[in-house]
Amino acid sequence: MKFFIDTANVEDIKKAYQIGVLSGVTTNPSLVAKEGVKFEDRIAEILQTVPEVESVSAEVTPDTITAEEMIAQANELIKINNYDKNITIKIPMTLAGLEACRYLTQKGVKTNVTLIFTVNQALLAARAGATYVSPFLGRLDDISEDGVQLIVKVAELFRIHNLDAQIIAASVRHPDHVTRVAMAGAHIATIPFSVIEQISKHPLTDQGLEKFAADWKKAPQV
Ligand code: E4P
Repeated sequence: MKFFIDTANVEDIKKAYQIGVLSGVTTNPSLVAKEGVKFEDRIAEILQTVPEVESVSAEVTPDTITAEEMIAQANELIKINNYDKNITIKIPMTLAGLEACRYLTQKGVKTNVTLIFTVNQALLAARAGATYVSPFLGRLDDISEDGVQLIVKVAELFRIHNLDAQIIAASVRHPDHVTRVAMAGAHIATIPFSVIEQISKHPLTDQGLEKFAADWKKAPQV
């Protein structure tokens, strides 16, 4: 399973990139709004910050409702950074979104269908040619459903039917989510930097380091 970072914060993106685990970035309107910057400017800045990752998802804004509106905005977004091949247009899971997804895929543009909460939605998105599908597990957990089970089922379905779309486990909230979606067969987990930090740590690692440092002080210094 690969790691994407789920943020529009450039400092967090740089930190994840530096440790060498980053394969992509996902953003959404809420994450960009939190940064208080112009949407297109921030996408351009992210693309310049991590030119080598496989995908940077830029989501069409909530004022694009029809497929034509989404496609028009996607065309503006892919011009950023001279049609950089890693820009991925993130599209909501609606009928219009599916239509836009099919069109963009035929034009060779990468797509990420987002806000997926059922297996059927994932199947539709894959059939519309999505490069990536994003089932949201944390938000299902929030309404007392088992979000990880959705990833388990989508992964199984894609295997049975040989579907090419990559599964991005999204709305990942804690380390146990990361382990379980990796075991379930998600191709990617998109996670905030705080969760990347959490999964790098264990109390016994810290204790081990302290003990090594204490023992080292006792060793003869030559
Ligand atoms: C994924 O692409 C979304 O941006 C994200 O994972 C949503 O997560 P949330 O439910 O924590 O807002």
